[in-house]
Amino acid sequence: MTDSSPSNKKLQGKVAIITGGASGMGEATARHFATHGARAVVIADVQDEKGRNVAASIGPNICTYVHCDVSDEEQVKTLVDATVNTYGGLDIMFSNAGMARATHACDQSVLDMELSAYDKLMAVNARGMVACVKHAAKAMVEGRVRGSIVCTTSVAASIGCPKYVDYVMSKHAVLGLVRSASLQLGAYGIRVNCVTPGAVGTPLLKDMFGCENDEEADKMVESRSILKGGMLRPNNVADAVVFLASGDSEFVTGHNLVVDAGFSVKVG
Ligand SMILES: NC(=O)c1ccc[n+]([C@@H]2O[C@H](COP(=O)([O-])OP(=O)(O)OC[C@H]3O[C@@H](n4cnc5c(N)ncnc54)[C@H](O)[C@@H]3O)[C@@H](O)[C@H]2O)c1
Repeated sequence: MTDSSPSNKKLQGKVAIITGGASGMGEATARHFATHGARAVVIADVQDEKGRNVAASIGPNICTYVHCDVSDEEQVKTLVDATVNTYGGLDIMFSNAGMARATHACDQSVLDMELSAYDKLMAVNARGMVACVKHAAKAMVEGRVRGSIVCTTSVAASIGCPKYVDYVMSKHAVLGLVRSASLQLGAYGIRVNCVTPGAVGTPLLKDMFGCENDEEADKMVESRSILKGGMLRPNNVADAVVFLASGDSEFVTGHNLVVDAGFSVKVG
């Protein structure tokens, strides 16, 4: 468990945006950021009721919810501008929003791929990521903030899969974005990294693998874990994001931090 004693607060006074913060790993990270002393945590999502509830439970003095569909660049720009105007700057962007699939009609293998579904998924998972990195970086450069940008990718960024070609492509794209952006933004002191979660029992995982309930999701997670004696949870990924967002990783950039209980070592 994270040591959140006052002496170990890693994000004291920071202003952060978390996309996809209404659920799963984004939600867990929002809670961790607040525990670690962030001054403001802005949750951006399309699930308004969930997002508002998460923000309220963290505390309205620290956490707010903003509706933002990351596939719409104008909404992302408005999100970043409003955050900077309200809090005086932006220190951390956790670009995490994503979807597993945009169709249930097929498996998105190359032979049956629905390209309209591909477009919808790429608009969120790839286009949305670059919009968030772009506007966060612009705000950091303009504000002369040596900020930290963290994107969520996946073990699917480094391997092929029997189905979900669009999802796999979108996560490969995030890796390319992080590597290129880290080179381009290094001159401004801005770090860009990504976190690669393994299987984690969130609504996205249930949707991707058709799990009916939490027990089935847990079985899926367990089956993909080399490390036994526990289960990879959103909090474990949030710990890694806190590390990448904080001064503990001061000279880490362009890095892909894998938190997958050993899964990719086995398949790699
Ligand atoms: N769960 C896993 O096993 C797993 C593994 C590897 C990577 N990931 C990645 O982790 C990230 C977080 O997913 P999660 O597993 O916590 O799932 P989740 O479903 O709990 O959270 C995803 C969040 O993204 C939001 N979102 C979706 N489309 C959006 C849009 N257009 N604009 C703004 N928000 C949007 C959803 O409303 C949801 O709140 C995703 O990028 C996902 O691809 C998940």
